[in-house]
Amino acid sequence: MNTANHNIIVNSQFNPMAQAYLTSAVHANGADLDQMAGLVGGRPEAIALDMGCGGGHVAFRLAPLLKKVVAYDLSAAMLAVVAEEARRRGLANIVPQQGAVESLPYPPASFDVVVSRYSAHHWQTISAGLGQMRRAVKPGGLAIFMDVISPGIPLLDTWLQGLELLRDPSHVRNASLAEWCGLLGTAGFAVSSVTKFRLRLAFAPWVERMKTPESHIAAIRSLQQRAGSDVTDYFAIEDDGSFTVDTVLIAAAANS
Ligand SMILES: C[S@@+](CC[C@H](N)C(=O)[O-])C[C@H]1O[C@@H](n2cnc3c(N)ncnc32)[C@H](O)[C@@H]1O
Repeated sequence: MNTANHNIIVNSQFNPMAQAYLTSAVHANGADLDQMAGLVGGRPEAIALDMGCGGGHVAFRLAPLLKKVVAYDLSAAMLAVVAEEARRRGLANIVPQQGAVESLPYPPASFDVVVSRYSAHHWQTISAGLGQMRRAVKPGGLAIFMDVISPGIPLLDTWLQGLELLRDPSHVRNASLAEWCGLLGTAGFAVSSVTKFRLRLAFAPWVERMKTPESHIAAIRSLQQRAGSDVTDYFAIEDDGSFTVDTVLIAAAANS
């Protein structure tokens, strides 16, 4: 399969909405960002990669702790927003770089730290992106992965992926925690810690951020209204369509 085709859809979804991802409360905040900063600590000589940086929230958080952060994304518009915001914050050590996660333009072992947050569920082949991250990080280096995860139960999994796809055609798949651990092991990472969070998605900004068409909004609301109690309880579906998902932060070391 040709990843370029899917990546055109990713670009068409994210390019027009770059500013919205800078200001999105879901992306700009989160206890996971504090945890990432704690895991990284102060490493004034270290270079990090923020894979699928979007509006740059990982890069902004980690840059004061590190020598340099490469903010890497497919979307030129996202990178323009990151560059402007980095200038505004006086973070001169953030280097925007455009490209696809499937083809990182760096020699092996270029980075001390690699991070990806809320991006992997858009990658057509998650194993390809993880393989590139493993190649780019030094043996023993720190890797941090954060994303929305599937509950791993078929009924709930189908509902989650269905709502996500209706909202955004660049959605590929929220992997379950078990899938993440398997993929990371295969890619050459040893998981050292796993922290789960619950994330409430307010419905109006969730669809606004992706410019979801009215017909798809109606389909999502219709599905939500017809869901059984297993689904409504698990995702805490509210009257206005807001709902709550699981996220995970996985810390890992690159195998030597
Ligand atoms: C939800 S945003 C990321 C949010 C950001 N990491 C944060 O913490 O706020 C997802 C980003 O992944 C990028 N992306 C998706 N697929 C990609 C790919 N195959 N290669 C590079 N970037 C990709 C998109 O362009 C988008 O900017």
